[in-house]
Amino acid sequence: MNDRIIIFDTTLRDGEQAPGASMTIDEKLRIAHQLARLNVDVIEAGFPISSPAQFEAVRRIAEEVQGPVICALARAREEDIRAAAEALAPGKRVRIHTFIATSDIHIDAKFGDVRFGRTLAEKRQTILRLTEEAVRLARTFTDDVEFSAEDAGRTDVGYLAEVVHTAIAAGATTINLPDTTGYCVPDEYAAMFRSVIERVQPPPHIIFSAHCHDDLGLAVANSLAAVRAGVRQIECTINGIGERAGNAALEEVVMALKVRNERFGGLKVGIVTQHLTETSRMVSLATGFPVPPNKAIVGRNAFSHEAGIHQHGVLRRRDTYEIMRAEDVGQQPEQIRLGRHSGRHGLFSRLEKLGIHVPEDRREEIYRRFLALADLKKEIYDEDLRRLVEAKTDGNPTAPYQLMEMHVATGTHRAPEAEVQLYHRSTHTLRVERASGDGPVDAIYKAIDRAVGRTHELVSYALRSVTEGADAVGEVTVLLNFNGACFRGVAQHTDVLRASAEAYLEAINHLEQFRTDHENLSFVRDGILQSFDGATA
Ligand code: KIV
Ligand code: ZN
Repeated sequence: MNDRIIIFDTTLRDGEQAPGASMTIDEKLRIAHQLARLNVDVIEAGFPISSPAQFEAVRRIAEEVQGPVICALARAREEDIRAAAEALAPGKRVRIHTFIATSDIHIDAKFGDVRFGRTLAEKRQTILRLTEEAVRLARTFTDDVEFSAEDAGRTDVGYLAEVVHTAIAAGATTINLPDTTGYCVPDEYAAMFRSVIERVQPPPHIIFSAHCHDDLGLAVANSLAAVRAGVRQIECTINGIGERAGNAALEEVVMALKVRNERFGGLKVGIVTQHLTETSRMVSLATGFPVPPNKAIVGRNAFSHEAGIHQHGVLRRRDTYEIMRAEDVGQQPEQIRLGRHSGRHGLFSRLEKLGIHVPEDRREEIYRRFLALADLKKEIYDEDLRRLVEAKTDGNPTAPYQLMEMHVATGTHRAPEAEVQLYHRSTHTLRVERASGDGPVDAIYKAIDRAVGRTHELVSYALRSVTEGADAVGEVTVLLNFNGACFRGVAQHTDVLRASAEAYLEAINHLEQFRTDHENLSFVRDGILQSFDGATA
């Protein structure tokens, strides 16, 4: 037994105590089944006395979930312990977890009434008695009884040892010493266990347990320090959810024990780590608590590399920047995220993976355009890359008009206004024009019309998103009518107003080119006719 760590999952009890994290009974059942697939050793399913819904959730989990030990929480009170036992009754392997506060601060606040004693010493004696009674009663229902000394982290260690001794003598098999307030630092928390174990000299079957809160961001570090002091059970939650700043995150504790196993004397952990990410997403969905992208192990970015030097490194040899394999925690392997820090190597190997071969002579131009897009978009998706390679190069050098600059101002209480600067190639002139309109696009189109010197008949305008995300690339298609002929313009940009302006201008350029060709044709035709006229004259 001493060569393995018991993973005690309290997502459904302490985790659910996180403000706003409450789950329905069905959600709890689904999560409990998933925790069983994950192969946790113990599921703390709830606190049955606290509400009928908690009671029912524990009862159904005990009835339906096979594999892990199902545990229920109870204060050191007869009615709590009986409610826990009743809720657990349908289960095969069950544990009652009873607790009482032991620190002076908690004793003062919770046992202030004189019926618990007049002095601190008397109150402490009362707590020893309540501990013994609670554990003895719990043992009448099951052989598996856990006792917790609430706020152990701030309890006088001599008194704590007395409480632990009493609980063991009464029949507790697991002794949990929580850092209830997240106050301890790792060496201090480990020293507490060493000191209690040294004073109590417990029989070998007793398991010591760590339960850490994250108020100082030390819950995982404290739990791991406790393991090195002899603890063999860690109480933790998926995604680290729990009271206030939360509990130790199960996925972090487990992967630290696995990845750095040599630092923990080769201790075994039974978790099927490939289910970690899926379990994390499930809990996030049920609680409505998003998983931050940079969350260790299960965050979306935990195995993504953006910096060029990192991308190059992992593409060559994954262990240059990865200490564990993404697939081992249920994440996608080799997530090369493309963004403004990516290098050529990352870009072109992703393109190759997408089946897009970029010839040598286009590589520099593609990379330059990729960087320009990355400046506009936080993350570049595969679809962006396809567009980037397919898109036409830097505009048509023979087009009559080129958009140099554009400003648009709009607001809830003002008419949209646009200012455009257009360069006219054949006359080498720059025109700046302003206009207001019914919307920003209308204002832009009016300003462009002024700069060109004629109005255009807009037949249709269509905008669609061609890639994902709030900063997706938008594609605008416009059709202009000129004497019954249609002229089309298409442009893509993350800024849809800019795409609107460029699409409109592209259609105008086609139209202008047609007009010029037409005029040239008329000129030639008129010239030919004139020469015929002259010949016949
Ligand atoms: O944090 C704590 O002390 C607890 C106990 C009930 C174990 O959650
Ligand atoms: Zn807790």
